[in-house]
Amino acid sequence: MGNCCNNADNSALQTEAEEIIAFTGKEKTISILQEVQKRKGYLPEALLCEIARLTGIAISDFYGVATFYSQFSFTPLGKYVVKLCNGTACFVSGADLLYETLCDFLKIKNNETTPDGLFTIETVACIGCCSLAPVVMIGDRLYGKQTPSGIRDLLQEIVTLESAGNSDGGKV
Ligand code: FES
Repeated sequence: MGNCCNNADNSALQTEAEEIIAFTGKEKTISILQEVQKRKGYLPEALLCEIARLTGIAISDFYGVATFYSQFSFTPLGKYVVKLCNGTACFVSGADLLYETLCDFLKIKNNETTPDGLFTIETVACIGCCSLAPVVMIGDRLYGKQTPSGIRDLLQEIVTLESAGNSDGGKV
């Protein structure tokens, strides 16, 4: 992260930071980060710096916590976050092939977002549905026993819905 915390003259940023602090309190670093992530979909550096300025929490504390937990992201996520389980059961059931298919179809890699802002790929540890391996989650929906052609069809379905302008945001 670069040098930040020179945003005091940005009143919109300050207002947003104050709203977040009013909601979470000044001391709970994780709660603040969760609220920022929830509101913005990621952790914008300028906003974190403004919150650090207002709370007195060291910006390094925010980064220390945020890099420890996978729930936080420093870059904007796509509208559809495609989580591919890479746990043992999924791995031995072909998660690597699914990963190749995802990368191939979306032209991005793990933790990247498509230029149109539609998809992000995230590989994750076991999500507790090993009997359905290999497992993919898109938004909050789980797809078990996936195959490369199945995942391609799912992605294509989303692309088609989005081009028609009638998607419901992650619930295909
Ligand atoms: S290893 Fe994938 S759900 Fe458990």
